[in-house]
Amino acid sequence: MTTQPLPQRPAWDALTAHYRDASSWHLRELFSDDPNRGRRFTSEAAGLYFDYSKNLITDDTMSLLDQLALESKVEERRDAMFAGKHLNVTEDRPVLHVALRMPKNSSLVVDGVDVVAQVHQVLERMSVFAELVRCGQWRGHTDQPIKNVVNIGIGGSDLGPVMAFEALRHFSQRELTFRFVSNVDATDFVESVRDLNPEETLFIISSKTFSTLETLTNATSARQWLVASLGEAAVAKHFVAVSTNAEKVAAFGIDVTNMFGFWDWVGGRYSMDSAIGLSTMLAVGPENFYEMLEGFHEMDRHFCTAPVRQNLPMLMGLLACWNNNFLGYPTVAVMPYDQYLHRLPAYLQQLTMESNGKHVTEDGQRVTYLTGPVYWGEPGTNGQHSFYQLLHQGTTVVPVDFIGFARSLNPLGAHHDILMSNVFAQAQALAFGRTAEELRAAGVDEGVVAARVMDGNRPSNVLLAKVLSPRLLGSLIALYEHSVFVQGTLWGIDSFDQWGVELGKQLAVEITPELDPKSTEKLAHDSSTNALIEQYRFLKKNG
Ligand code: F6P
Repeated sequence: MTTQPLPQRPAWDALTAHYRDASSWHLRELFSDDPNRGRRFTSEAAGLYFDYSKNLITDDTMSLLDQLALESKVEERRDAMFAGKHLNVTEDRPVLHVALRMPKNSSLVVDGVDVVAQVHQVLERMSVFAELVRCGQWRGHTDQPIKNVVNIGIGGSDLGPVMAFEALRHFSQRELTFRFVSNVDATDFVESVRDLNPEETLFIISSKTFSTLETLTNATSARQWLVASLGEAAVAKHFVAVSTNAEKVAAFGIDVTNMFGFWDWVGGRYSMDSAIGLSTMLAVGPENFYEMLEGFHEMDRHFCTAPVRQNLPMLMGLLACWNNNFLGYPTVAVMPYDQYLHRLPAYLQQLTMESNGKHVTEDGQRVTYLTGPVYWGEPGTNGQHSFYQLLHQGTTVVPVDFIGFARSLNPLGAHHDILMSNVFAQAQALAFGRTAEELRAAGVDEGVVAARVMDGNRPSNVLLAKVLSPRLLGSLIALYEHSVFVQGTLWGIDSFDQWGVELGKQLAVEITPELDPKSTEKLAHDSSTNALIEQYRFLKKNG
């Protein structure tokens, strides 16, 4: 699919010219000029109401962004992804996380195989296993039912499972304890298992490649921990694997009948709804897991069918490009006003930045424009008492995605209305600020007027839904996945590889044996790395 380089697309030039006007706008005026703006710049799908009216946009901006989507062939590329074309060009693979949530009665034949049938075979095996564990029929080596589930994985094999477990904790089986070990720092493993009884503990080793050093190191320690109290024969009942690599799973010593597979066309950061979600299914049960898949699929269908101006992922992706490339805002903050979503920002960091933190286009040309913004965030209202000062009065403008719900899963007194009033108030304060005149009219002492002025004109989106359910979670994650896709398509990059993480891994493997204080090998790195290693050896020896 050929498109002109981004800076040569006519809409790019038109947007550059349009930006010169935008730099003199203020949201205060845009709202006072159009009393209906707060209703007009909204759209709704899959239970998510999306208010993007507090972005620095006009109808002309939206038409030009629409035009940019057209010239960038976003819809054609979306259709190619859903048809199983090899969009991951540097690894020559299809990009088919959308097949993970296609209904059982559908089919998608890719490279001669019906991938939907494959997906549902695994889902059915996962469901049987999850039910056995949840109802206590899956017994450990000493005939004890499983009470603790420890997922060992990292990156996409951890962040999705943790985020989904926390997000859906309300729906989880409380008799089961869940732990997630990712960091190669032994503290993570040791603290996670210190109060667990091996007889009642099941490890899920989650790794797409089954070659990730952190995961294999933790899995080896888990195995030693279990074998030390129950013996080698216990491994079969206490270890299952989730992977695409049966050979390596077997080589590690896990019976492949206890392995749940997925495929190389699922990117790690797009895998929480594959077998990588086994811990999620164990926690919330197959029914809720299927409901989550339906939510994903509903957003997929919306993405495929809605016109650009009503299409949530298109709108979100196009606005992210407008804020990043034209207004020059280098980060995006995601603020879920729901404690259950407290790991969502960490999850989105991988989804967005491992996908779009790229400096060359698909055909290897250096980009001449900004790509993936930095995503970060914290749950509300905690962030308000920490970094919101900078959001309101700092010299860096940070577009914010606010996420909130009409109903709490834990209704208690006035908590929820207080929480949600903060969503609306923060978005309002960011957009409209407070002028010197308003402050003076309110009787503020002249000496502090300047310090208290808030310029406003700071963009935000608000996503509002009824309640956080498994279905809604699926739709929300699919929204962000597809928004990332739209942004990557505009920038002409491969959002599905991650070559940038390789060099650091290789260097660490070379350095590990050099850290032995007894090593006499001459260090041959740069002078800083050499000195750091020598200092480390010295501290270790004399510590
Ligand atoms: O190092 C990055 C990465 O490859 C991620 O893309 C991936 O999610 C993570 O490591 C874990 O990989 P695996 O599931 O193969 O262990």
